[in-house]
Amino acid sequence: MKQFLSVADAGDINKLVKLALNYKSKPFADKALGAGKTMGMIFLNPSLRTRISTQVAARNLGMEVIVFNLDKEGWQLEFEDGVVMNGNKAEHVREAAAVMGQYFDILGIRTFPGLINKAEDYSEHFINQFVKHAGIPVVSLESATVHPLQSLADAVTIRELKTTKKPKVVLTWAPHVKALPQAVPNSFAQWMNAWDDVDFTITHPEGYELDEKFSKPAKIEHDQDKALEGADFVYVKNWSSYQKYGQILSTASGWMMTRKKLQHTNNAKVMHCLPVRRNVVIADEVLDGPESVVVQQAGNRVWAAQAVLSEILKQR
Ligand code: CP
Repeated sequence: MKQFLSVADAGDINKLVKLALNYKSKPFADKALGAGKTMGMIFLNPSLRTRISTQVAARNLGMEVIVFNLDKEGWQLEFEDGVVMNGNKAEHVREAAAVMGQYFDILGIRTFPGLINKAEDYSEHFINQFVKHAGIPVVSLESATVHPLQSLADAVTIRELKTTKKPKVVLTWAPHVKALPQAVPNSFAQWMNAWDDVDFTITHPEGYELDEKFSKPAKIEHDQDKALEGADFVYVKNWSSYQKYGQILSTASGWMMTRKKLQHTNNAKVMHCLPVRRNVVIADEVLDGPESVVVQQAGNRVWAAQAVLSEILKQR
């Protein structure tokens, strides 16, 4: 593996899931693999799970890790080429990324979308500039449009908990008070669509259609109760509109995941990437009940990251 920016870099999903589960049973099996190597983790946005799980994963492989909150501690970066840098931005990404490439063996980057300019966000302008100029493998710690480390951990969780050969997996929109990126649902859809092991449906109110580049060929059902019928896994997530870019079209509280809604399912396990707003996105009764697997899912972020980093290290 040369980089990890989306499912396109994952290769055989089942092989990667198996590797992650191997690390879960033997965390230090490859503790010498990353000896003498350093991972840089650059954050332009907040994080709890990605920041900590990826550090644990890198350390399990014997790597050193340096975390840098670029948004708070670094120079303000210019990403456009050919500009006269006479404003607030003191450093160009061309130098910043290239310099980091001198210090690190692997570079992880988290950068959210602005949710204002769809073309700019969906071109992945920011992370691609790091890829272009760093000269070392780049791992997405969530970019403007996808969150592949999360999606791999989601696949690991489904593999661990499934009781049928091809479980029904439903991604359902849920309400939220803030406009959130489409990265997690885009990415989850992309991975589920690429994975033969699941039967995948997406449900959301009209107007919340994801970019078809990610959602096709999943089944789309606008009636949430109907979509949930017979589901083995229900992945709950809010996202803002892709069509009316970055807007909140509805706060429809009827879409919040409750125990009553889960009666339509096949005793479904409930997933969410976290952080989750209780009693807005998912009711307490579900998050605190036996159907919730959100903590196990977050725990699997370590093994997903470890599988990815080890695959990159093996090619260095
Ligand atoms: N799910 C996830 O990526 O969590 P953080 O934003 O806390 O890293």
